[in-house]
Amino acid sequence: MPVSANAHLDFGYPWWLSYGHLPIVACALLLLLLGYARKWSKWPMFLLCVLALWSSAAFVVARFTLDINGRASLPTQNFFRSGTGRVLDLGAGTGRSSIMVLEARPQATLVALDLFGDSFEHHFGPGESPQERLLQNLKAAGVAERASITTADMRKLPFEPATFDAIVSAYAVDHLNREGITQALAEAARVVKPGGDFLLILVGKEPWVQFAFGPLIMHSGARGPAWWATRLQEAGFQILEQGTRPGTLYLLARRS
Ligand SMILES: C[S@@+](CC[C@H](N)C(=O)[O-])C[C@H]1O[C@@H](n2cnc3c(N)ncnc32)[C@H](O)[C@@H]1O
Repeated sequence: MPVSANAHLDFGYPWWLSYGHLPIVACALLLLLLGYARKWSKWPMFLLCVLALWSSAAFVVARFTLDINGRASLPTQNFFRSGTGRVLDLGAGTGRSSIMVLEARPQATLVALDLFGDSFEHHFGPGESPQERLLQNLKAAGVAERASITTADMRKLPFEPATFDAIVSAYAVDHLNREGITQALAEAARVVKPGGDFLLILVGKEPWVQFAFGPLIMHSGARGPAWWATRLQEAGFQILEQGTRPGTLYLLARRS
């Protein structure tokens, strides 16, 4: 399926993450028109021009570069290169990260795990059964037959040790507090097989996000790659790779 085909997918992130700059563009342009008609002085007109330019550019970045409601692609092709086996998605939400892995690794099966509690509703709003929303997206992407859904807490996983060949987690572990992060990483280390990959994807404090949203969608404050690498190593992983993508910090780790 082509990467641009989002027709039946609805990841359900808030509208303002994709379109929130448009009302600012409209207001700035209307005020510019008003100012032109009433011959306002040059400084307010200059500031309105700056606002109109920034909000227009920020809209393009949010909608087309960050594109949080669009399909995601793997930040690194080195994740789970064998492509065969069972993957666990910690904090699967409405399925964006699960679909990313299942489309990139067509021989894999995946367990999409989420607590489907307050944090889910906070991100995706109230609605019908959260599990049903996830399932609908897996079906729309044509990957539902390789996926199963589990309702559980990533800090206390209901799986035997060494159950999974790889683990992914996107924009989820960074919603936990410090103790929760330690617990979730320890649980990930417990349930992945020795030598298994863990792709940890986090909200990145990088220029595209800063430009479009400033501090509005910062998670876990200013924690950078070194902080996360240390937490992963403490849990029993070795770091293979780290990097950034628009809006994203990722670390690829391997169970020792
Ligand atoms: C921002 S969403 C990310 C969803 C998805 N991974 C994606 O890439 O779009 C974070 C998800 O983490 C889930 N979550 C938060 N705390 C959790 C926990 N302790 N156990 C399991 N899932 C949790 C929330 O319910 C939410 O669906």
